[in-house]
Amino acid sequence: MPNRVRITDVAPRDGLQNEAANIPTHHKVELIERLAASGVDEVEITSFVRPERVPQLADAERVCEEIADFVEGVRMVAGELPRGIGCPDRPGGSALPVFSALVPNEKGLDRAIAFHERGLDLKVSLFMSASEAFSRKNTNASISEVLTRFGPVLERTREANMPVRVYVSCAVACPFDGPTPPERVRKAVNMLNETATANNVPPDSIELDLADTIGVARPDDITALLDEFSPREIQRMTLHLHDTNGSAADCVRTALALGIRSFDGAAGGLGGCPYATVEGQRAPGNLSTQTLVRAVHDAGYQTGVDLELLEEAGRFAWDIAHSG
Ligand code: HMG
Ligand code: MG
Repeated sequence: MPNRVRITDVAPRDGLQNEAANIPTHHKVELIERLAASGVDEVEITSFVRPERVPQLADAERVCEEIADFVEGVRMVAGELPRGIGCPDRPGGSALPVFSALVPNEKGLDRAIAFHERGLDLKVSLFMSASEAFSRKNTNASISEVLTRFGPVLERTREANMPVRVYVSCAVACPFDGPTPPERVRKAVNMLNETATANNVPPDSIELDLADTIGVARPDDITALLDEFSPREIQRMTLHLHDTNGSAADCVRTALALGIRSFDGAAGGLGGCPYATVEGQRAPGNLSTQTLVRAVHDAGYQTGVDLELLEEAGRFAWDIAHSG
């Protein structure tokens, strides 16, 4: 079992999408550049959803333009970089992390692919839910309608050689439907696998990202959830934890022991899905990447992250989100 753990920072997307302050594009770009310098493996930089539904990320194109320039600048200094997916093991490898963006449908994919010509090869983050109620709130569609949208998107990502992750939200509980039985997550992943196969995409090529959208998981929940999946599936799996009860770091330790080697965090612990808000109560923030990386290191595993640079990026993320 490898000792290297992959870290994705989703602060520029999941972290900022729910913030009320008007955050200027150049601050978002600086956050992305600081995260890239901290040594994380992947940064989810923005979202190509309907701008009216998530106004905070309506500047997705402008963010990507700036990041395309940044990548070009790094290329000029570091020489030719592997295109598309960054090196899975950054130390001594790629000078840049993978950059990914949230995509809900073909229109979102068109917007992401447009940056290919500008030298920015984005990884595509699709999202679905294990809970019907959240699926409708978040995507205006049932689980099976979302999968129907995925079909052509998956096929086109394969043709364009774009790596894909698929989030499965509410993998532990739903803000509207309550606890999610692990079998329901299994069923959602089976449906995803069928969609992928029907569109000529090998399910094994998709990174599965199981999300505790409302941050209520306890270690036993993680054990019960992962029990539904084979070691081979766990190998291509990421865990996306929000942190409401302060038990996310314990969940990370449990997941490591069960073979998970990839986690998401958000610098500064920002974030939450605007469509997971109930009764005026704001959706819970993501597990902070600093807490995540410390938990991973303390458990005896390695990352490519420089904690000091990450702490600075976390403070910067907090400042830009709260200086409105
Ligand atoms: P819909 O409302 O069903 O849209 O959107 P539609 O297909 O009926 O189209 C209506 C109009 O929207 C059309 O424009 C489309 O062109 C336009 P019109 O012809 O009326 O002028 N449109 C778009 N425009 C730009 N980009 C697009 C796009 N798609 C349609 N991609 C959709 C369905 C899913 C797109 C919409 O409901 C949406 O954008 N929802 C936002 C969902 C979201 O961003 N949620 C937060 C992120 S998910 C999350 O946080 C969870 C996660 O972190 C994991 C976890 O923790 O659980 C990932
Ligand atoms: Mg999330």
